[in-house]
Amino acid sequence: MQQIPGSLNIPKTPELLRDFEQFKQLLKKRTGLDLDQYKFEQTYRRIYTMMERAGYRKFTDYFAHLAADEARLRGFIDRLAINVSELFRNPEQYEILRKQVLPELLKNSMQLKLWSAGSSYGAEAYSLAILLHELAPNRSHQILGTDIDQEVLERARRGVFAESDLRSVPPEYKQKYFRAFQENGRTQYEADPALKRYLKFERHNLLSDPYPRGFDLIACRNVVIYFSDEAKDRIFREFHQSLRPGGYLFLGNTERIFNYAQIGFENPSAFFYQKPQQEVQRWRNAS
Ligand SMILES: C[S@@+](CC[C@H](N)C(=O)[O-])C[C@H]1O[C@@H](n2cnc3c(N)ncnc32)[C@H](O)[C@@H]1O
Repeated sequence: MQQIPGSLNIPKTPELLRDFEQFKQLLKKRTGLDLDQYKFEQTYRRIYTMMERAGYRKFTDYFAHLAADEARLRGFIDRLAINVSELFRNPEQYEILRKQVLPELLKNSMQLKLWSAGSSYGAEAYSLAILLHELAPNRSHQILGTDIDQEVLERARRGVFAESDLRSVPPEYKQKYFRAFQENGRTQYEADPALKRYLKFERHNLLSDPYPRGFDLIACRNVVIYFSDEAKDRIFREFHQSLRPGGYLFLGNTERIFNYAQIGFENPSAFFYQKPQQEVQRWRNAS
């Protein structure tokens, strides 16, 4: 019996692989979610584990079980997308944002339009809101948070975080922007309404929905790691289209765009890809 590299006891027989192909087709037909655009090994391993836990040995039987109940099917899709996040994740990158990227963008525009793509439960979007509120308060900035998972979007709208979500938040921001309260015997932190007024959360599938346009900054961090190289390339090209000239794409710690120049980006510092300013001229002439 073949094993999946890096995982013990996950079988990968020809029958199971055929069965998995059928599972993917059934899922796509029913929900529109195309698992071929996700990395194979990781997706197979995760679904196999979920199937095993539910007591099934064939993917198609597991699909019948999921499809029999809409809430169960939705729960499966939600669990497939890993939602791990925290505020100011990789704080050194947020320092670049605070000191260089956002001040530069604010020189060109009074009100910024930002997008946290794959926002999970909103930690990244709220971090962006804090920085914008610190640098340029009381302006009509807009921050859009999107995710494929409805449940995390509900949490994002509520703006309530656990202590562990706040561990990288600078103490003065924690004090200023979060109200501690008790819920189910745990200390929780609710974000200040001053932050919430910049924020809007909507469902968006990066693999199949039309992309919103006109952003000064798009943060898409720790999301594309799950996708195939072709899907990633399409996403980065869409992001380029969605940015205003001079706008930035902000990626996660382990993510790089190797063909950034071909797409039309510059790469002024690690994790930040800029659509050249030069295009401002062309853009203005065109309008
Ligand atoms: C690890 S979290 C990243 C959260 C945040 N960006 C961060 O870096 O802390 C990845 C998120 O991507 C979302 N996601 C996965 N596939 C997606 C898709 N096709 N379209 C939109 N979001 C997706 C997941 O639901 C999950 O919430």
